[in-house]
Amino acid sequence: MDDLDTQNIELQLLLQAIHLKYGYDFKNYAKASILLQAIHLKYGYDFKNYAKASIKRRVLQRLERDNFKNISEMQHRILYDTDFFENLLLELSLNVAEMFRDPQIYLRLRHKIIPELKKFAHLKIWHVGCSTGEEVYSMAILLKEEGLYERSQIYATDMNKQLLKQAKDGIYNIKKLRHQKAGGLESFSDYYSAHYNHVVMNKSLKEHILFSDHNLATDGVFGEMNLIMARNVLIYFNRELQNRALGLFSDSLSPGGFLCLGLKESIVFADCAKHFEEIHKDEKIYRKS
Ligand SMILES: C[S@@+](CC[C@H](N)C(=O)[O-])C[C@H]1O[C@@H](n2cnc3c(N)ncnc32)[C@H](O)[C@@H]1O
Repeated sequence: MDDLDTQNIELQLLLQAIHLKYGYDFKNYAKASILLQAIHLKYGYDFKNYAKASIKRRVLQRLERDNFKNISEMQHRILYDTDFFENLLLELSLNVAEMFRDPQIYLRLRHKIIPELKKFAHLKIWHVGCSTGEEVYSMAILLKEEGLYERSQIYATDMNKQLLKQAKDGIYNIKKLRHQKAGGLESFSDYYSAHYNHVVMNKSLKEHILFSDHNLATDGVFGEMNLIMARNVLIYFNRELQNRALGLFSDSLSPGGFLCLGLKESIVFADCAKHFEEIHKDEKIYRKS
């Protein structure tokens, strides 16, 4: 028996003892870790450095919802039924997105950051964790209205290919529009064609957007960006993965480039923080020196 086996047995005994004494049953939590390792080996998605409690909660919710007897039964299904896995991946990757989410960000971009970006002949913008694309189209509209779209190239990435497909299609059921609150100049309806119960974003907004898959846990840098929008992605990572991702953003930005994080995210603890100046505290906008 090697050290790892001994440690596993000790861990199992400890978990049993906690269960008996305090009634908390962590058995499935421990097994959920093994399941995440299996997903990494088979599909290449590495959830090791995600905030553990939330990811395991989702796995266990799915276990209950689909009436699996235990994690091993669910693991078998995940590893041998790709459709089932893809569906679970959508839940694990927490993909909530909205047009002009946090309108004050777009106001700040419009009035403070765009004037700086206008000084460049060409612009490269990276939307990290773009999900179903709402944020990317919001940016495309902003750039159009500010006369910058034609000289911009937007890279929109996400680790989840299903979400990227939806982003490319640009078909939405728009309930909450925040275009005007975000300082929108034209009527929002100029940017889509309306159908019975959905809208399709105009082709002209897609011309300068390149969608591709990129995983912040395993992939490398994107060169010479002037602006990186990385909103509401880091929040799901532990410190180690946040640090990796922020390092990638730092290495991908040109000097003077901007980084915009989600309202609950920050760069202060990261190794690369010394390369950045915080320029809009509330909106979490930083500039690389
Ligand atoms: C909550 S959404 C954010 C969408 C958009 N940025 C916004 O703020 O509205 C988080 C996105 O991050 C993506 N994501 C999660 N982990 C990732 C990783 N390791 N690499 C790239 N994208 C990831 C998810 O697939 C999901 O689409």
